[in-house]
Amino acid sequence: MALIALQEQLTFPLQELLRTSIEVRKTRVLFSRIFEYLDMPSQIKKISGAIVLNKKTVRGQVKLENVSFSYEGGSLLLSDITIDIPGGSHVAIVGATGSGKTTVGYLIAGLYEVDKGAIYVDSVDIRKLSSHSRTDILGVVSQDPYLLNGTIKENLLFANPQATDQELVTTAKITKLHDFIVSLPLQYDTPIGEHGYRFSGGEKQRLSLTRTLLRKPSIIIMDEATSALDTITERNLSIALNESINNVTTITIAHRLSTVRHADQIVVMNRGRVVEKGTHEELLEKNAYYAKLLESDKS
Ligand SMILES: Nc1ncnc2c1ncn2[C@@H]1O[C@H](COP(=O)(O)OP(=O)(O)O)[C@@H](O)[C@H]1O
Ligand SMILES: [Mg+2]
Repeated sequence: MALIALQEQLTFPLQELLRTSIEVRKTRVLFSRIFEYLDMPSQIKKISGAIVLNKKTVRGQVKLENVSFSYEGGSLLLSDITIDIPGGSHVAIVGATGSGKTTVGYLIAGLYEVDKGAIYVDSVDIRKLSSHSRTDILGVVSQDPYLLNGTIKENLLFANPQATDQELVTTAKITKLHDFIVSLPLQYDTPIGEHGYRFSGGEKQRLSLTRTLLRKPSIIIMDEATSALDTITERNLSIALNESINNVTTITIAHRLSTVRHADQIVVMNRGRVVEKGTHEELLEKNAYYAKLLESDKS
């Protein structure tokens, strides 16, 4: 009896590990890659003649021109949004909950079709962009990322199977996750997900960011992607990110204003409209909506 019990104890983790790796393989068939919400089915009616943008030559310029949008059956949510994001620049979208920030992210990612106006990436209407180009060029990190049942390494390699161990480490250092990973007994081979080590919200977010960075997108949309981190870790990560991904266009959707003050451009939204645009200093100088948000953020 005792022997059987011992055997069970010994074999259980092995079976569990085997099962986990089978699950990872199964999931790999279901989704070709991890795209956060980019792998949700796009509702865009394609305009014929898909245009392919090459990741090596893309500038990453994003332009929203007089965009209006409402969810099916809903009242008008976004009205006349115009935002010009030069390639390689860092833009922040801020505003109260419900002002439409996440929806703007969805539209740039091509998840829904705009009702009026258009969105361009390097002057190509995203409705004309091939779906492969879309997922190749764009990277999305959402507030509540999806982890696979597998090891940390498997979760990372899933995004870019060609990545070397050195690349995994370098990228995990940028996202301030490496030191934590190596403090775990099994390090990069630690199983996570339902059957493994339970990551905290902030660790999950950093893993998701690492995964997205490994795919080397030209444009990254981060929707409250570091919201679960404490202010100091968030700021350090933001500095490391800006230093290491210089030529990547970043669109940061943020609630906490302290993290976005160094953005090249801050877009302030209120009730589905853009109410102000400018740098932190310009908006402070204006002493209007952003200045008020900042004031209430401090209290
Ligand atoms: N899939 C959806 N269908 C219908 N309404 C939605 C959907 N997603 C968001 N909304 C609504 O759109 C509004 C703006 O939401 P959202 O873009 O998430 O704002 P924010 O990110 O600024 O908080 C909210 O009132 C929300 O209820
Ligand atoms: Mg949101």
